[in-house]
Amino acid sequence: MTIYRIPVVPGDGIGQEVMAEALKVLKAVEGAFAGLTFACQEFAAGAKCCQERGTDLPDETLAACKTADAILFGAAGLPAVRLPDGTEIRPQIKLRKLLDLYAGVRPIKRYAGVPPVLAGDPAIDYVVMRENTEGLFASEAGGARVGEHVVVDSLVITRPGTERIVRWAFRMAQQRKGAPADGVRRVTCVDKANIFQSMAFFRQIFYEVAKEFPGIEAEHAYVDAMTLFMVTRPLRCDVLVSENMFGDIISDLGAGTVGGLGLAPSGDIGDTYGLFQPSHGTAPDIAGKGIANPIAQILSARMMLEWLAETKRDPQCVQAAQAIERAVEHTLADRKNHTADLGGKAKTAAVGDAVAEAITRGN
Ligand code: NAI
Ligand code: MG
Repeated sequence: MTIYRIPVVPGDGIGQEVMAEALKVLKAVEGAFAGLTFACQEFAAGAKCCQERGTDLPDETLAACKTADAILFGAAGLPAVRLPDGTEIRPQIKLRKLLDLYAGVRPIKRYAGVPPVLAGDPAIDYVVMRENTEGLFASEAGGARVGEHVVVDSLVITRPGTERIVRWAFRMAQQRKGAPADGVRRVTCVDKANIFQSMAFFRQIFYEVAKEFPGIEAEHAYVDAMTLFMVTRPLRCDVLVSENMFGDIISDLGAGTVGGLGLAPSGDIGDTYGLFQPSHGTAPDIAGKGIANPIAQILSARMMLEWLAETKRDPQCVQAAQAIERAVEHTLADRKNHTADLGGKAKTAAVGDAVAEAITRGN
């Protein structure tokens, strides 16, 4: 019997709602795999926590994350809860830095049954690798404000930071199952190297690292053109690697091409810790209505199991992750399980039930 310690941080808004469904699914996994137990304990973080306790990331939450086997996170932040500098609280960004979760792994995958977004309904399946700890986000609260008229945020690219994310991207291209339509494994460096020296440096390091992976095609694209290619020729995409903010933006775009943020999971992973959360935020526009799509959170739990499988060398986690994937495929294939974002009427809880039941039935 393996017991994994999982701090669960639902956060704000729909984070609370979709997390309840992911926990339901993990319970079903425990039922289906007798040797697996998840010791899930809830911890606070986020905007509401900040209002109530004066901190968006309490010490005990951080401490639990530091002793965890893996962390399951919902979403945090509310547009009305702001810091004196005008920005929002963002414990998820703090955690990325404090736990050095440098690889933002964001799969973009088309599931059968989901109403097609792009013409021809291409079988999209690629990964955005977002550098999570530097880039434009490195400024975060460290930009300069000069009086009332000048504010500067700086974009930080470091050699070690770029080498490690690019290596991760190439390793991902070597290992992942999905393949681009032409069968050529490739990593695309998404940058703006025509304008910014920081980006030219990022691309230079990209091609240096690419030499370590002769079996994988290395190419580059400017980020503006890439947003076009993600819509016009998504089947050519395999692994896209980019600086923090570009990765943030193109991963939402990618999610849009396969049905929306409600289907977009992510892993924030470092050499020691792994935190898994949907790519979306707290969706205040739909929060509290019970209509959020929990699939992104559930698929984030699947990514957590894949990571546990790898880091703990636990074959049961491999099978459990596959069981979640199959159950999600099965659930989404039936339109009655589609939430409002997919044009359906299903409630958040009903979708969680459907995935959990599919796991229990062994679908
Ligand atoms: P958002 O991702 O919360 O919402 C964007 C749009 O997608 C909204 O129309 C929303 O209804 C929809 N959407 C998102 N997730 C959905 C789901 N599971 N099911 C159905 N529809 C879904 O981004 P937004 O509106 O820019 O930010 C809202 C708040 O969330 C802000 O306070 C922001 O700071 C925070 N945020 C937090 C993140 C995190 O914790 N990682 C990431 C992004 C935003
Ligand atoms: Mg984002």
